[in-house]
Amino acid sequence: MIKNLNTLKLMVAIAVLFATVSCGSDKPKKIRIGFAMDTYTEERWKKDAEFFKQKIEALGGEVEVQACNGNEQVQNQQIENFITKQVDLILIVPHNSKTCATAVKQANEANIPIIAYDRMIKDCDISMYISFDNEKVGEMQATYATQVAPKGNYLLAGGSATDENAILYRKGQMNILQPFVDKGEIKILIDQFCKDWLPVEALKLTQNALTLSNNTIAAIVVANDGLAGGCIQALTEQQLQGKVPVTGQDAEISAIQRILDGTQSMTVYKPVKILAETAAEVAMGLVKKASTIAETKKMNNGVKDVPSILLTPVMVTKENIEATVIKDGYIDKSKLKFQ
Ligand code: BGC
Repeated sequence: MIKNLNTLKLMVAIAVLFATVSCGSDKPKKIRIGFAMDTYTEERWKKDAEFFKQKIEALGGEVEVQACNGNEQVQNQQIENFITKQVDLILIVPHNSKTCATAVKQANEANIPIIAYDRMIKDCDISMYISFDNEKVGEMQATYATQVAPKGNYLLAGGSATDENAILYRKGQMNILQPFVDKGEIKILIDQFCKDWLPVEALKLTQNALTLSNNTIAAIVVANDGLAGGCIQALTEQQLQGKVPVTGQDAEISAIQRILDGTQSMTVYKPVKILAETAAEVAMGLVKKASTIAETKKMNNGVKDVPSILLTPVMVTKENIEATVIKDGYIDKSKLKFQ
């Protein structure tokens, strides 16, 4: 009996010891997020990745970032790889808004939540879409163009047709342009998308439009600053730079310089720090099943009304560079040349 009691005491002591030891080493598992990006070609994407990573780490999680450099097959493999690694959530900037659904369906089977970041993913089940109001971006571009060039031949240089944003920019632009077209005041000479957002595609498109119109283009409504660079190059070949209004988007440093120089008319600034940090908060909230940020809208992706957060873009012209991108620290003033 005594012997048994001693044995019991010993067993209890060992159990307590084990419990204490395992308690001490039982650190909570870090939340792991996979970030599947498209490209780093445009200046903004490095900022998106960096701000997202910093915020996730500040919230106690960790991130692995993979970019597919414009290859949708590679992107799907990278997403499958995140699934194999059993990450807690995957954030995706799809290269192709449609084919990405294949990888998302695999993530659904593995119960890994998906957030579509900046670009919508079509025809599949995603938890959240976080972006800017992209239709509004297009409206800002066309509004500016029609204010300075209310009549004449227009060229529309769109983004990649595989990017849902490019479609939304065009929709927003047409909301503004259609009444002018209907009245016969604006004639859309060329309306095309530029493969993979390549500036060289915009260069070729502008060269064609200039030839077709005998150099009488009233305005070029361009989806982003990268493409605007290509358009302005074609205008420069005909000594038309600064004479034809050109729109843009992203507030890239080279575009802000062109606005100061007078060769680009405007850009649309999207504060990506807020976007990335919002995405980080939502991601951690979704994993912990205690989201603190609620959706503000629903956006249909073909099969689902996806809970969405759409932030507000800001129009930038020569007049408000200082009050917007410089004030926000998005662009370092010392990198710009003022005349
Ligand atoms: C983004 C733009 C970017 C473009 C090309 C779009 O989906 O919203 O900010 O310029 O892709 O990367």
